[in-house]
Amino acid sequence: MAETITIIDDRTGKQVTVPITGGVFPSSALRQLDPKLRVYDPAFLSTAACKSSITYLDGDAGILRYRGYPIEQLAEKSTFLEVAYLLLNGELPTDAQLEKWSYDVIHHTMIHENMRKRFVDGFHYDAHPMGMFTSAIAALGTFYPDAKDIHTKESLDKQTLRLIAKSPTIAAMCYRFSMGLPFVSPNNSLDYSANFLNMMFRIGDDHRVNPVLAKAMDLLFILHADHEQNCGTTAMRVVASSNADPYSAAAAASSALYGPLHGGANEAVVHMLSEIGSIDNVPTFIADVKAGKGRLMGFGHRVYKNYDPRAKIIKKAAYDVFEVTGKNPLLDIALKLEEAALKDDYFVQRKLYPNVDFYSGLIYQALGFPVEMFTVLFAIPRMTGWLAHYAELLRDDDQKISRPMQWYTGVDARDYVPLNKRK
Ligand code: ACO
Repeated sequence: MAETITIIDDRTGKQVTVPITGGVFPSSALRQLDPKLRVYDPAFLSTAACKSSITYLDGDAGILRYRGYPIEQLAEKSTFLEVAYLLLNGELPTDAQLEKWSYDVIHHTMIHENMRKRFVDGFHYDAHPMGMFTSAIAALGTFYPDAKDIHTKESLDKQTLRLIAKSPTIAAMCYRFSMGLPFVSPNNSLDYSANFLNMMFRIGDDHRVNPVLAKAMDLLFILHADHEQNCGTTAMRVVASSNADPYSAAAAASSALYGPLHGGANEAVVHMLSEIGSIDNVPTFIADVKAGKGRLMGFGHRVYKNYDPRAKIIKKAAYDVFEVTGKNPLLDIALKLEEAALKDDYFVQRKLYPNVDFYSGLIYQALGFPVEMFTVLFAIPRMTGWLAHYAELLRDDDQKISRPMQWYTGVDARDYVPLNKRK
């Protein structure tokens, strides 16, 4: 069967045949028919805006792979820093490469004192940590004169290293500021995730990070490291396409992630579960959702029309964490909600399954994070994915500055009406 598509413009009878490669045909076909022809595709439901070799996702089959490796295998066998190396470089590191990468990351975790003293300390006492994190990421770039040197590989690698290494430090600093707690410096003897937990929660000299909890944190970081062209990554790419520095682009991506329909959903899930309050209220809540009174947060996904593979892994990991911390009382409500939704026609017909955010909030809460920190916990590992996409875009000769077309639906030309003649 021919792997081509033929498009006929019935207005003119003109037709064009172009190849379909990997399920994709080039939009240049439309320009050949009529340079003014546009595809109306709000929210990019059918548009591949780039080629990418970083993450593969099949939403119908519930498949997620980083650089070809199934997420389940990475979750079981890998570490976050190894996965970060894989996403950025395309291959798993050798022993020596991993040792150098880990050393480099750990030795770039410190931030300039002025970031804390002059920048973070300037926030209002109850500033949302995600707003602080996003602003701090943008501000971080101003500390490095070479931040804008994005076309030299050595410089871009340096900015990438800085952003990945310093994101946990900034995140912990924002949290400690909002709690009125003194800032804890990075500890070079701890790995990435344990160091983050230490900077977050250390109180007193005998504080030790529980290795089970550090492992769970690392697992959550792996699961959130990349997810191809989601809203935040698209923001990263659009800003990168203007050749803005990676700090500014990452701040834009972080802003996109902040929204409750994206990375803010895990926060919304915990609020929702708390409001439901008891498993007895689950049927009424489900009925309300079906009646259009709000959404079942943590359910549904633009691309997964099957169980989100990350949700499965997180659900399992939750029990390891609860063994150390004690069970999160909201778990029973979540389980009941999932059970009720998965056998309800409304959710079945719309292919609405738990997404990554449905259970992650429960683990975060058990680990001791306040809900305001949840999206920040998503942003820390996603920084790696954003930067992998940033570098990929810069290397892609097909790319230019992003500039979508529009379908103008406003009024036609008309003459200016003086103020005293307007009705
Ligand atoms: N609860 C109830 N109904 C839902 C839900 C939900 N969580 N999600 C989708 N629907 C319904 C919609 O009302 C719509 O019904 P209709 O066809 O009768 O109008 C249908 O399912 C399709 O929904 P859309 O909004 O068109 O789906 P879309 O792909 O645009 O949205 C999204 C995906 C934003 C994730 C959506 O499912 C949602 O709002 N979920 C809750 C928020 C959430 O958990 N977000 C996290 C996503 S994962 C992440 O970003 C990391």
